[in-house]
Formats: sequence, structure tokens, C-alpha cells
Amino acid sequence: MAESRNADEIFREFKEHSIAEFFKKNRQMLGYSSMVRSLVTVVHEYVTNSLDAAEDAGILPDIEVWLKEIGENKYMVRVSDNGPGIPKKFVGKALATVLAGTKFHRYVQQRGQQGIGAAGATLFAQITTGKPIFVKSGIGKDSFSCHVSLDTMKNSAIVKDMENIDDGFRGLSVEAEFADVKYEQSEHGVYEYLKRTALSNPHCQIKFIDPSGKESIFMRSVKEMPQKSKPTQPHPLGLAVNDLLEFAHASTSRKISSFFVETFARTTSNKVAELKDIARGVDFEKSPKEMTWPDAEELIKAIKAIKWIAPDATSVIPIGEERIKTALKNILDPEFMNVVERKPRVFRGGVPFVIEAAVAYGGKAGYKTEDGSSGSILRFANRVPLLFDAGNCAITEGIKTIEWRRYAIDMETQPVSVFVNMSSVHIPYSGVGKEAIAKEDEVIEEIKLAVMEAARGVQSFIRGKHQANFESGKYKTTMRYAKQLAKDLAEMTGENEKALETNLEKIIATHYPHLKKAEINAERKGESAAREEEVGDAE
Ligand SMILES: Nc1ncnc2c1ncn2[C@@H]1O[C@H](COP(=O)(O)OP(=O)(O)OP(=O)(O)O)[C@@H](O)[C@H]1O
Ligand SMILES: [Mg+2]
Repeated sequence: MAESRNADEIFREFKEHSIAEFFKKNRQMLGYSSMVRSLVTVVHEYVTNSLDAAEDAGILPDIEVWLKEIGENKYMVRVSDNGPGIPKKFVGKALATVLAGTKFHRYVQQRGQQGIGAAGATLFAQITTGKPIFVKSGIGKDSFSCHVSLDTMKNSAIVKDMENIDDGFRGLSVEAEFADVKYEQSEHGVYEYLKRTALSNPHCQIKFIDPSGKESIFMRSVKEMPQKSKPTQPHPLGLAVNDLLEFAHASTSRKISSFFVETFARTTSNKVAELKDIARGVDFEKSPKEMTWPDAEELIKAIKAIKWIAPDATSVIPIGEERIKTALKNILDPEFMNVVERKPRVFRGGVPFVIEAAVAYGGKAGYKTEDGSSGSILRFANRVPLLFDAGNCAITEGIKTIEWRRYAIDMETQPVSVFVNMSSVHIPYSGVGKEAIAKEDEVIEEIKLAVMEAARGVQSFIRGKHQANFESGKYKTTMRYAKQLAKDLAEMTGENEKALETNLEKIIATHYPHLKKAEINAERKGESAAREEEVGDAE
């Protein structure tokens, strides 16, 4: 018989867990699932932090990523940047305390949001190799190096071997060893991640040393910093019940009524009066810290029932059409492309966002496959490449429903890259791992419209290209007949075969005015290699 236990006995084992303990057991939630993905996640967390930090300090980012294989499925990762670094006092909290950072209390469009990324990587290093991470922070005369790890039970940092350094290094360098990770040269690998980061951040320069020692540099193609996004207040229509509660409990306002006016955009005392009229069960005089879940539910209902002025979209900073063009040219060097930047829209009634889309054809666009090429989709959220979980993403969803044939595009066989970036202060990620954008209807629709607009701009080019290929095929076949015909005629008439052939070729060429002279000559000489380039600009 099973042993019976009463509540007292069972609850003797009751324990509170720290957030760090929680993530230690649920590391897949932070993106540490497959080995290939785990390595990308580490690099992603460090690189996005470097970009955020450099931009915050007004510095054009120079980032170096170095991967070294140190055992089976075991790698050393070092990411260093030229940003502002971290002061001594904060290094432990910043890199080894979950939910601690300079960003999450600010409602501003940055890549990092929650204060989980860096500590998550420290935790992952620790649970797979048992080793702390090594940090160098070059901030002038107080530069230092140290080892940092995490006390998961307490969710607090352990900082050891603190040493002052004076080697002239400026920025932050983080070095750590990870097991259960693997480097792969695929569309889900670190190289691809960095290439796409360079695409959406043309103002940064990234040097990558892969595990074989090969060095790649993604050069900076734009020298101006991106426009800085301003902190904004959240719009009430973008709130869910738990968001409202979180804001209320963190608030220092005296009453719920003043909390609304002080915390949210477009919320005047008149608006609060309207809310009071509808949410009659809520005491607007009490402290926001005392707001209950039923209060918040009632308030959210009231918020949805009244009219609001649309949110201010100036807080949303897209990459910009020209920058995307420059970056695509720099990295994919396509034969042709079209870039579209749409106007700001809102989802959930209150969160502004901007979609940018581009379709690029030829050059290094698309994927090289064994028998030619195929199309590829480049997904970004606030300039951060999304490599995993494509099936759960609004971008994939929006693109899937497009009838590509209408634009003469075949995603299965053509060298096409479709680029989509969503910018917003609040990206609705579908999970903590931030690998996909949730399928909000308004977002999907806007993505679809943006990509269709971009595709319209390349369709005449692609049609022209098909036509040119078709013509040159016909031309080649006819030429083969000319050769044979010249031979037969020469036999029958005794005329010079070569002269007959040249004359026939001249006659045939007049029927193919689209194929340029150089190409025809190339065809004659059988140099089909030269053809590609000529046809390329025959729009
Ligand atoms: N390279 C860096 N240079 C300067 N400060 C940094 C750097 N990396 C991290 N930090 C500081 O450490 C904090 C914590 O980083 P962490 O990645 O854990 O959180 P986050 O970037 O704020 O949010 P997210 O969880 O979304 O990544 C940052 O908010 C920042 O203040
Ligand atoms: Mg981060």
C-alpha cells in the first residue's frame, strides 16, 4: 500500500524557488534547446547587448565574435565590443542576476527588454561546464577584469578575482565556455546570424572568427548612427490585465486616478473620469499598489469601451529605406531589389509598429541549392534576426499567403531574398526565447501588404529576365539550324560555307534586338558566361 501523508507532512517540502532556479530547469524557454540553437542564443544575447550598449553611448559598434572548439560539443565563446563597458559596481548584477538591467523599466525601442539575456548565458555556461564567465570592462582608469557566476538559489551574483587592468582596452569583453552546443554552417548557424545582424544594422561592423580559424568581416556600410528612439509612455489600449497590474504595483503615484494620468499616454483627467463612469467597482482613490486582479480586469474592459486618441508613433524607429538598400547591396549584392517602408500602424488598438520589407533578386540572394537556387525569408524584429521557430511567426504567416506567381516570383527555384523587419517598442514575441513574432492579425496583414508592395517593384525586372532567357534559348536553337543549313547549302551550290553561315547569322540576329551585340558575339563564340551580365540589365 502507498504511504499516506497529511498536508503538514507534504508541505514540509514546500520551497520557494528563485527565478534563476526556474530558468535552470527550463532553459529551453530562454532559447537553450538544440545544440546548434544554444550556441546561436549565446552569441545573440551578447551581440544584442553590445549593439544596445554602443548605441546607448552614441558609439558606432565594432564587435568581435570568436568561437573556438575546445572539446566534443564544447566551445569557447568570446564577444567583445567598443561600447561603454559596465562599471565595477554593476558587473555582477548585469551579467549574473536574472531580471536585472538598465532597460526593462524604460518603455523604449531597444533589442533587450527583460534583463534575462546575459544572466541566462552565464547560467548556461555554469550548468554545462561548471565554470564562471570571464569579463573585461574597459572604462578608462577604473578598467577591470573578473570572473562572474550565479548563485541560482538566491538569484545573486558571485564576483571573483577582481583585478584592475590597464591595457588600453575600451568596451566590454565577455568570454565563457559552453558544453552541449554545436557550430554548424547552416541557415540556423552563428555565421548566418551575424550576417543577418549586419544586414539589419548597417552602422555596425562585425568580425567573426569561426572554429576553423577563418575570419569574416561584415563591413560597416553606413557611418551615421541610427536615430535614437525616445522613451515613451505605453498607450492604454496596448495593455493586458497583467501589464496593468505590473505597472500599478511598480508605481509611486498616490492614487489610481493619478497613476493613470502619470503612467499612460493620451490619458487626461477627463479620460480618467470616463473610466470611473464605467469601472464603478474600482476605487480610484486607493493606492495603485493595492490594485487587485478584478480591479485590473474591470479597468481593461473600461479602457476598451471608450474612445482614445491613437498612440504617438514617433517612438518607433525603423531602419530606413536607404539604409536597407545600402546593407542589401553590401551583403547580398543583388541584381535588382525593391525596398518598402510602410507608415506606422497599431496592433491591439494601442501599440504602434512599422513594417519594412524588401525583395532582392540575384547575386547572393536566396540559397544556393544542389540544382540551382531557392528563395529565403529573412525575418527581423527591431533589427534582430529571427532564425528559429519560423512556423510560429507572423512574418512567415504573412508571406505564406502571398500568391507569388502574380509577381513572376517562384520561391522554390529562384535566387530571391524576402526581408521583413518589424519595429515597435513592444514586439509581441510568441515566447520568452524571442524567436518569433506572435500572429496578431493586424501585424500579419501589414506584413503581407508590405511584401506585396516590395514584390510589385521587382516583378517587371523578373518578367524581363524570364523573357530574355526565353529569347536567348530560341536564338541559340535557330543558330544551330543556321550552321547545318549553311553546310547543306554549300554542298548543293558550291558556295563558301563560312560566308553562308555568317550571312545567315546576321539575318537571325536582326530578329533578336533584345539580345545585345556583345551577347550575340558571345553566343557565337559559345561564351555563354558573358551572357548573364548583359541580360541582367535588360529590364
Ligand atoms: N556589452 C555590454 N555593454 C554595456 N552594458 C551591458 C553589456 N551587456 C549587458 N550590459 C548591461 O547588462 C544589463 C543586463 O543585460 P541582459 O542581457 O541580461 O538584459 P537586457 O539586455 O536588459 O534584456 P534582455 O533580457 O532582453 O536581453 C543590460 O541591461 C545592460 O545594462
Ligand atoms: Mg540583453
